[in-house]
Amino acid sequence: MKSRILQLLSQKQTVSGEALSRQLNVSRVTIWKHINQLREAGYQIKSTGKGYQLKSAPDSPFSWEFPEREGLVHYFDEIPSTMAKAKELARNGCPAYSVVIAETQTSGRGRLQRTWVSDKGGLYFTVVLRPEIPPALMGRVSFAASLCLSRAIEKETGILASVKWPNDLLVGKKKLCGILSEMDVTGEAIDFLNIGIGINANNQPERVESNAVSLRNILNRPVDRKSLLSSFLTELEQELASPSLDHIISEWKERTITLNRQVKIVTTGETFEGEAIDVDENGALILRLPDQSTKKVFFGDCFIQPD
Ligand code: BTN
Repeated sequence: MKSRILQLLSQKQTVSGEALSRQLNVSRVTIWKHINQLREAGYQIKSTGKGYQLKSAPDSPFSWEFPEREGLVHYFDEIPSTMAKAKELARNGCPAYSVVIAETQTSGRGRLQRTWVSDKGGLYFTVVLRPEIPPALMGRVSFAASLCLSRAIEKETGILASVKWPNDLLVGKKKLCGILSEMDVTGEAIDFLNIGIGINANNQPERVESNAVSLRNILNRPVDRKSLLSSFLTELEQELASPSLDHIISEWKERTITLNRQVKIVTTGETFEGEAIDVDENGALILRLPDQSTKKVFFGDCFIQPD
């Protein structure tokens, strides 16, 4: 209902309560109730003698802002982590492309057991995927997610973000987005693969992490988080609908800053250095070690060493 009210209000300068109630086939009281809820959510809706006027909308990605994804978008003002909520929904059988969004997270999680500080203004969400591929190929889906995110950011803001192995997005040497994947597998089938994404959009990440940057810092103006999320989901849906994901890794390589650099890899148990020479077809990083042997790395954090 809120989607449809907003749609009608954005088509004309003034829309009467009567016209809304007639076109949406509900009572004037119902319209009035939804208008008040929208106002409480931050929409500026003026009442004039002739009807309602939509003056401004907040930047929050409320579920009713995605009418083309009806029933799939779950918005929360504050939750511990969108990963936990998405896992619960996925285990209860929610459809693919369900999305959990949080304005803030109180226990946001990063890779390798780290905390992801989730201040207001960032874009924090988890999308539930149900890819029909063997679990061993899941790396390609996370790589597809980072690629689609980089494309969506370029489309919406003109900013070219590069990808750093495995799935970070950077501008210059500063972190713009982080991606965390989580899956449940039964036998040889993926039940769900959840992709959690934190984007430094309109927040100020440099307050807690000097090596981070936000889109707002770069552009000197706020970005539209709703359009950014929409663009990303459309890119991802189109990408994952293609019959083969074979081209993902080659396109990822075109956007990466990791290859042909000296890197330090930190996993939960080990740290080692080498030259990043390639990424295999499933996303594992191939390193040339100081003794000239090669080593495949499947997970870990990658730090590019100064030249
Ligand atoms: C990383 O770079 O370490 C990955 C960070 C992933 C953060 C996102 S924010 C939305 C989702 N919910 C979480 O708790 N974590 C991911």
